[in-house]
Amino acid sequence: MQDHSRPHRFLPSGPLTGRVRVPGDKSISHRSIMLGALAVGETRVAGLLEGEDVLATAAAMQAMGAQVERKPDGSWSIHGVGVGGLLQPHSSLEMGNSGTSTRLLMGLVASHGITATFTGDASLSGRPMGRVTEPLSLMGAQFHGNARGTLPLTTEGICPAVPIAYRLPVASAQVKSAIMLAGLNTPGITTVIEPVPTRDHSERMLAGFGAKVEIEEADGERIIRVHGDAELRPQEIEVPGDPSSAAFFAVAALLVEGSDLVIENVGLNPTRAGLFDVLRKMGGSIEELNAREVGGEPVADLHVRHSLLNGIDVDPAIAPSMIDEFPVLFVAAALAKGRTTTTGLEELRVKESDRIATMAAALSGAGAQVEERDDGLVIHGTGGAPLRGSANSRTKTRLDHRIAMSMAIAGLASQDGVEVDDTRPIATSFPNFMDLLAGAEA
Ligand code: S3P
Repeated sequence: MQDHSRPHRFLPSGPLTGRVRVPGDKSISHRSIMLGALAVGETRVAGLLEGEDVLATAAAMQAMGAQVERKPDGSWSIHGVGVGGLLQPHSSLEMGNSGTSTRLLMGLVASHGITATFTGDASLSGRPMGRVTEPLSLMGAQFHGNARGTLPLTTEGICPAVPIAYRLPVASAQVKSAIMLAGLNTPGITTVIEPVPTRDHSERMLAGFGAKVEIEEADGERIIRVHGDAELRPQEIEVPGDPSSAAFFAVAALLVEGSDLVIENVGLNPTRAGLFDVLRKMGGSIEELNAREVGGEPVADLHVRHSLLNGIDVDPAIAPSMIDEFPVLFVAAALAKGRTTTTGLEELRVKESDRIATMAAALSGAGAQVEERDDGLVIHGTGGAPLRGSANSRTKTRLDHRIAMSMAIAGLASQDGVEVDDTRPIATSFPNFMDLLAGAEA
């Protein structure tokens, strides 16, 4: 049988130099399409991430009545149906690998009088959905599926839904956003209480679209109130570059000797930019140039120069602001001088893969010294010396784009390269990763 996966060996690299521009932010791209689909009139989006995850959201919104199309100039046009106007999809909604599409769209469906079945790939079908079905059930939606609470799941929405006040039991922007989106078509005020702040793109963007969203901060908690029966006004959106994609290039430039790279147009919302702070604390030279605002988000160009990093105890409080960046931080730690300890990362076990176990195995195979704990990794770095793995070791990506890209970066900083078993998942969030990397290495 032919092997359709795409293994690739990432070889040690020369310095990364020049300028790169990473694609649009994934979280903002999803929300641009969803909110555009709920506004009456045409929303235009420039810089949308055309990754598989976002395209799954676009297809789903189309299946529920919105018109979503790519224009010849590369921008996207969305003609929305209005809050409350979503139509019954005629077939199941295929979510691929995308947890964000699934959880946020379940929220949207929950307060419409429609029923939708969500399906996904093997990775997504193993991820917990109880965290959204529980609050959305309290709002009156019903869910039909297996007892494990995983996909495939059918969401039977209800209109009118019941407004709730819900304290998030896990720090999750997806759960927060699912409830907020359900609240848009719910009479009264829907309240989400966040004990630990997470990425706030839904709050910022909903306010931009004209929804009434109130945010109160008290004793370190955030209380978010969404007024229902909202009317959204179409917007012109420019999506900033994704800090989670820039992360791979930032770590690559720090690790590879002689590198001097500018990563342009990186979104630096404080709820997302934790990795850059941690890397600076480790001794990384990362400068922000040309700080500005794009689409209501702080943005800058990052000037990154090769640096010898020092191991660090990462404060678990910073985790929500870099939740997707731990795999590549582990790679940086593997090359740092001394020990890096991470704790409080239980959530990493329910991402596209179990990122604690997957990275422990991948980095050990690549020659790093790693101890796996329940809630994080302890990594003893090489002090800058290249990683030397066993010749036949191969990273198991487990359908996780960020594992593939993180180990690609480990390959650049290795003696003999790192083999990644399947590079196809990269297309979910960063379709031109391989080309950009090759360009920066040249
Ligand atoms: C996201 C939230 C995070 C993140 C994911 C995108 C979002 O997930 O890992 O890649 O766009 O809201 P959790 O809410 O599960 O932490």
